Amino acid sequence: MIPVVKTIDEVRKYVKSWRREGLSVGLVPTMGFLHEGHRSLIDRAVSENDRVVVSDFVNPTQFGPGEDLEAYPRDLERDAALCEEAGAALIFNPEPEEMYRGALTTVSVDKLTKVLCGKSRPVHFDGVCTVVSKLFNIVTPDRAYFGQKDAQQLCVVRKMVKDLNFDIEVIGCPIVREADGLAKSSRNTYLSPEERKAALCLSRALSAGRAAVDSGESSAGAVKAIVRAEIEKEPLARIDYVEAVDMDTFEDAETVRAPFLAAVAVYIGKTRLIDNFIIE
Ligand code: PAJ
Repeated sequence: MIPVVKTIDEVRKYVKSWRREGLSVGLVPTMGFLHEGHRSLIDRAVSENDRVVVSDFVNPTQFGPGEDLEAYPRDLERDAALCEEAGAALIFNPEPEEMYRGALTTVSVDKLTKVLCGKSRPVHFDGVCTVVSKLFNIVTPDRAYFGQKDAQQLCVVRKMVKDLNFDIEVIGCPIVREADGLAKSSRNTYLSPEERKAALCLSRALSAGRAAVDSGESSAGAVKAIVRAEIEKEPLARIDYVEAVDMDTFEDAETVRAPFLAAVAVYIGKTRLIDNFIIE
């Protein structure tokens, strides 16, 4: 069985022994309840590194007050089976005390975190950057894998790695979707059957926006309007944001020019879902 360790010391012991053998190490940070989106990151990491560590930690500091920290789904046994099958070498599953006992330090990336998800979730990215920095220092991987599903998170982590000189290659992986288009997410388990159908409006709207771009639409405002109109047709949907930004600066885009990110956050009932498309 794949080892599941709870302490920072144990992770360091494993990594030290691998390093002594000259092996490369990949890290896939997750909050667990793994699905095929996570699996695609683990598969890529396994194909590019001698040993892969999957962290499985519902990080409390990235949840705001009133968010779904308590409800967040957990299933360590199933996660371990998935990681083992994928060929990962180690699962790091710490308790919050192990990560944060007495901690007074926060890692914060400015500007990129003030827009899109950062607007409605003001503490979220500080929590993400702090925990990802800690995981980078604990595992000291050669490469770390993140999904484009969380496109803003990926950009923020890349910026942090550059600004703080982490000697780690950050690798972005494409969004994995259900057969009908819904982006895979641990939070999809919150949806009732009726909401599950309604949730398709995110991918449908983004596909419509993308199709407009592909047939020559160059106004970012027009693309946003197409996406918004499509979501507004769904009575169970409430838009948090529909944005189109330059992926380097996260400033509003006027024209569709690579690197371009069109991103949405939409409440379906009480569940907040995100999705996006990128033009690279
Ligand atoms: P979590 O939501 O568990 O996601 C872990 C990683 O899986 C992230 O990099 C995310 O972008 C990726 N991922 C999730 N769904 C995906 C999908 N459908 N296709 C491709 N990749 C997908 O993101 C977090 O956890 C946390 O913020 C974390 C980085 C672990 C810090 O706590």
